[in-house]
Amino acid sequence: MEKFFFEDDNNRVTGKAVVTGKAKYAAEHEVEGVVYGVLVGSTIAKGSIIAIDTKAATKAPGVMKVITHENSYKVPGYDYGGNPAKGLTGGKGLQVFNGNTIYFAGQPIALVIADSYERAVYAASLIKAQYNQDVHATDFAEMGKSVIAVEGQRYKDNIRGEADAYKNAAVKLEAEYIVPNEVHNPMELHAVIAKWGADDKLTVWEKTQGVKSAQRSIAAAFKLKEDDVQVFAPFVGGGFGSALRTWPHSIAAVIGAKMVKKPLKLVLTREQMFQLVGYRPYTKQRIGIGADKDGKFIGITHEADGVTSMYEEFTEGTVNVSKILYQCQNVTTRYKLYPLNLSTPTWMRGPGEATGCFALECAIDELSYLLNIDPLELRLKNYAETDPERNRPYSSKFLKEAYQLGADKIGWKDRDPRPASMKQGEWQVGYGMSTGLFNAGRGNAKASAKLYADGTLIVQTAVSDSGPGTQTSMTMIAADMMGLPVNKVTFEYGDSSLPPGPTQGGSTTTSTLGSAVYGVCFALQNKIIDILKTDGTFNKTDLKVEDVSFTDGGVLLKSDPAKKRTYSDILSKAKLNQLEVSDDSKASEQMRNYSAYSYSVHFVKVLVHSKTGVIKFDKIVATADAGKIISPKTARSQMIGGVVGGIGMALMEEAVIDNRFGKYINNNFADYHVPVQADVPEIEVAFVNKPDPILNPIGAKGMGEIALIGFAAAVSNAVYHATGKRVRDLPITLDKIM
Ligand code: MOS
Repeated sequence: MEKFFFEDDNNRVTGKAVVTGKAKYAAEHEVEGVVYGVLVGSTIAKGSIIAIDTKAATKAPGVMKVITHENSYKVPGYDYGGNPAKGLTGGKGLQVFNGNTIYFAGQPIALVIADSYERAVYAASLIKAQYNQDVHATDFAEMGKSVIAVEGQRYKDNIRGEADAYKNAAVKLEAEYIVPNEVHNPMELHAVIAKWGADDKLTVWEKTQGVKSAQRSIAAAFKLKEDDVQVFAPFVGGGFGSALRTWPHSIAAVIGAKMVKKPLKLVLTREQMFQLVGYRPYTKQRIGIGADKDGKFIGITHEADGVTSMYEEFTEGTVNVSKILYQCQNVTTRYKLYPLNLSTPTWMRGPGEATGCFALECAIDELSYLLNIDPLELRLKNYAETDPERNRPYSSKFLKEAYQLGADKIGWKDRDPRPASMKQGEWQVGYGMSTGLFNAGRGNAKASAKLYADGTLIVQTAVSDSGPGTQTSMTMIAADMMGLPVNKVTFEYGDSSLPPGPTQGGSTTTSTLGSAVYGVCFALQNKIIDILKTDGTFNKTDLKVEDVSFTDGGVLLKSDPAKKRTYSDILSKAKLNQLEVSDDSKASEQMRNYSAYSYSVHFVKVLVHSKTGVIKFDKIVATADAGKIISPKTARSQMIGGVVGGIGMALMEEAVIDNRFGKYINNNFADYHVPVQADVPEIEVAFVNKPDPILNPIGAKGMGEIALIGFAAAVSNAVYHATGKRVRDLPITLDKIM
C-alpha cells in the first residue's frame, strides 16, 4: 500500500451528477402511478385524541384515503393494546397510528392520501381533532423540579479514583454550560416512496444513512423477510445523523401504500423536520476541574442532564469525553435523563462528544486563566499517552502533531494572551482553540468485485452516502489497489440487495467499508496471481502478490519490469469474461488490546465588535489526526462542512420552544439560523495524515464527527479572549456579550 492519492483525478466521482441535477434523491424517483401522502400533526403536546373528524377531508377532491389510529392497517410488528404508560422503551420508536395517546406536539395523527400533493395538503387542512388535553412538560427549567429523571442502572455515577477530587485541588473551577436543542436540518427534506409489489414484496426509496438498517427495521415492523424488502438510497442530501433511524413517517408511508394499493410518496415539510426526525437534545452540564499549581489535573467531575421523549430513552456519551481526553487519575461522571413532551432526540453530528467537549474544552480554557498557563500548554501538560479509562495503548495518536499544525497556522504564539487586549479598529480580537475526539471504530462489511475483460472494475456494497464522498473514497481505494484509473472503476451502492455494507454513522464508514474494499481487491489480486502462476506468463509457478505491481491496468513483475500483462490479456487468454470475488471484512482481533480515537483541533480568530457585540470570524484553522487520508479533496470538504456546522452550533442554532403550547416557534429557515456563505470565512484544513497501523489495513480513522466536535468551545474561548466575557450557554448571540 503505497499511495491513495490521485493528483490527476481527485474529484468527487458523483460531482457532475449532483451539480447537474442527474442525481436522484428519495422523492425524485419516478414511480408509475404514485400517489401523495401528507401527515397531519397533533396540535397539543400531551393528552389523548377523543375524536378525529375526517369527513370533509375524505370528500375533498382527489382524496383516496384518510388514515388514523381508528382505521389504520395493523402493523404486525407493533404491540397493540399495550399500556402506553408502562414507561420508556429503549430504542423502540413511536408506533404511528397505534392508539390515541399524544406524547408531543406534531405527533402524526392522520395520513391523507390524494392523487396530487396539493390536493393532499388541502385535504389535510380539513382534519379536525378533539383532544383530552393534559398539562405538558417541555420547559427545560423544570428538569429536576417537576420533571423527574429516569431511574435505572444505566444512570449510576461513574467514579474513577477519588470522587469529586477536584474540590481539594489548589486551583479549581466550577461552571455550568448549556447546549440547546439543535435540529439537523439537512438541505434535503426527509422523504420516502413505498411500493408494494406482487407477493407482498416491498420496494422503498428512502432518505437513509443505512440501506441495510432501513431494510431491517421496515422488515421487522411489517414482519417480512428481509429479502422481500428492497431499500434504495443512491443519493442522500445530507443527514448529520437524522437519517440513521427509520422514523414513523416512513412506516406511515408503507401503511398508506398498503391501504390504497398504490405506490405512495411522502415528503416531510421543513416544519415537520423539527418534530419527526430527531434533534440534538438540550443538555445542561456542570464541570468541576482542579489542578495543582503547575497545571497537573487533580480531578475532573462532569455532570450532564439531557432530555428524551415520553416514550423512549435516548442517551449519549456526553460525559465520557472527560474520562478519556486527558490524563487524570480522578474522574467522576454523572448523567441524568429527563423525559419531556418532545419527540425522541437522536444522534446529531458528534453526538454526545460534541456536547461534552463544549463544556470540557471551555472549562479547561477557563482554568488556564486561573493558573496563568497558556491553554494549549495546559492541554499538553495533561496529554494522555495511553488510554486513561481502559489502561491500554492507542493504536495511534497524533494529537500533539495536530496541535502543532494548527498553532503554527493561526499564529498562536504571536497573540497577546491577556483577555480583551487585542484590537483592530472597532473590533476586539480574540484567539481560541479546543480539542475534539471521537472513537475510531471498525465494523463488519461485505463487498464484492467484478473485473471485466475490458479492464473495468465494479465494486458493490449496500451502503449509502449522505455527503462525505464515500463513493469517491471507495473508488479510489479500489483503483489504487488494482492500478486502474478511477474512471475504469464503478462503485455500486445505495441498494439493500447488494452485499451488506455498514450504516453510515459514527465516523466508521471509511474504516469499515474501506477495509472491505481493500479486502475484496486483495482477493482479486490473489485470483489474478493464481491465473498467472499457471498460464506461463512470468514462468513462475510460485508467483506471489508481493512479486508484482498492480499498475497501468495490469500486472508487472517487479524483478523484471519489462514483463507486464494487462487485465484484458490475462482474462482473454484464460477465456474468462470476468473475475468475481467477494470479501467478508471483520474488525481486527488485535484491536482488543488497543484504543483508537480520531482527534480534531480547532483554532479560531474572531472579531467582536466593541459596540454591537457582532461576532465575525477572521480565520479558522481545523486540523485532525484522522489516520491516513484516503481522498484528500472530500476529506477537506468534510472538515469544512463540520466547521460550518460548528459555526451554526456556536453562534446561531437553537430550536426555541414556546412552553405555553409545547411547540417550536422557529421551525423554519427564516427563524432557525444556519450559517450562510457570508458567515463562513476561509477555512484552512490540515491533516497529520499518518496511518493507524492496527485499526485496519488502510490506516484510516474517522472524520465525520471530529470535524465539528470541540468547535463551539474554540469560539467561546476566542470570544472570552477578545472581550473578557465568558459565554457558557450556546448559541453565543450578541445579547450575551453586550
Ligand atoms: Mo452521525 S451523528 O453517526 O450521522
